[in-house]
Amino acid sequence: KRGAEKITVAEPCNKLPRPAPSLPTEPALYSGPFPFYRRPSELGCFSLDAQRQYHGDARALRYYSPPPTTGQSPNFDLRDGYPDHYQTRDEEVQERLDHLLHWLLEHRGQLEGGPSWLAGAIVTWRGHLTKLLTTPYERQEGWQLAACRFQGTLYLSEVETPAARVQRLNRPPLLRELMYMGYKFEQYMCADKPGGSPDPSGEVNTNVAFCSVLRSRLGNHPLLFSGEVDCTDPQAPSTQPPTCYVELKTSKEMHSPGQWKSFYRHKLLKWWAQSFLLGVPNVVAGFRNPEGFVCSLKTFPTMEMFEYVRNDRDGWNPSVCMNFCAAFLSFAQNTVVQDDPRLVYLFSWEPGGPVTVSEQRDALHAFLPTWYVEAMTQ
Ligand code: A3P
Ligand code: MG
Ligand code: MG
Repeated sequence: KRGAEKITVAEPCNKLPRPAPSLPTEPALYSGPFPFYRRPSELGCFSLDAQRQYHGDARALRYYSPPPTTGQSPNFDLRDGYPDHYQTRDEEVQERLDHLLHWLLEHRGQLEGGPSWLAGAIVTWRGHLTKLLTTPYERQEGWQLAACRFQGTLYLSEVETPAARVQRLNRPPLLRELMYMGYKFEQYMCADKPGGSPDPSGEVNTNVAFCSVLRSRLGNHPLLFSGEVDCTDPQAPSTQPPTCYVELKTSKEMHSPGQWKSFYRHKLLKWWAQSFLLGVPNVVAGFRNPEGFVCSLKTFPTMEMFEYVRNDRDGWNPSVCMNFCAAFLSFAQNTVVQDDPRLVYLFSWEPGGPVTVSEQRDALHAFLPTWYVEAMTQ
């Protein structure tokens, strides 16, 4: 006898309720080596026009056109045109995955790897993955992701949390203006044609968007996702998307080492997560002064962002972000077992806690539109 009798195998006990599965989010649990992430390749693109109408082409793509580096420093008035020249998207409209599904429906026959590749893939927005990447470090905003399986594919679609809705409906006027300023910066930095000059006189319309659709893989999770792209650089070393794309950002001008440190810890994490996922090599930041003018620009190569926090005990780590995301995708894959577009699992997370999940069988939570399900069932 080698003590085998001491081993007690837990008998399945039908009388006790199973503890609800959950996923912890502490950074220390995800600090292993960086997982495999396939270099994202662009499968296609689409555009949304000033009326938020879908077009299966690149008409909304703009061209990076920074001011000459030889001249004086820039002096972009980001408040110019506010509020008269501001047209905002109707945020009451929950678009969910609709535009991406529109693209997918039109291109499902041409996907590399065929329909069997799609059956094993996860379909979502890049922005949803960005939230997953930053979760181990996020201390302010929670999230909810709805998930369902249909013809093998796992679809993930964000649901606005009640707290986020309250915040949106009570958005202070100054925050609304700050959002305008982010878009206004794009107008100063982009032209409508390659080699053209920016025209900052027009409207800022947040309905307009150019979206790239990409294929990648995180660990053993094939991914098909779409993300909004600010512009393409006609002078980029490679004209092949996504490596020609440029992400534009604004941030407050910084004056002390403490301000820079905080910028590296918090803002650079979000910038990195967003651009790394899509394979955007550079983020161009415009720093605005208290009067709302951008007087300096700085390019942050995505692959160099981690260097700013590598030796910071309170910094972020790309491996933690990617390992957590991979763990969440496995958690979702193992939870959403039944193939049924009407059966939705709602994954919820609030800072300080684990990711929890609940089953939603009501029509309210179903997010794959009938037109998509029916066309795919033909
Ligand atoms: P900044 O980039 O200067 O923050 P993006 O940078 O992702 O291309 O988004 C463009 C602009 O949209 C942002 O400018 C900001 O003004 C606004 N925006 C995007 N996401 C936002 C969010 N979660 N909350 C508030 N504003 C947001
Ligand atoms: Mg953008
Ligand atoms: Mg931007």
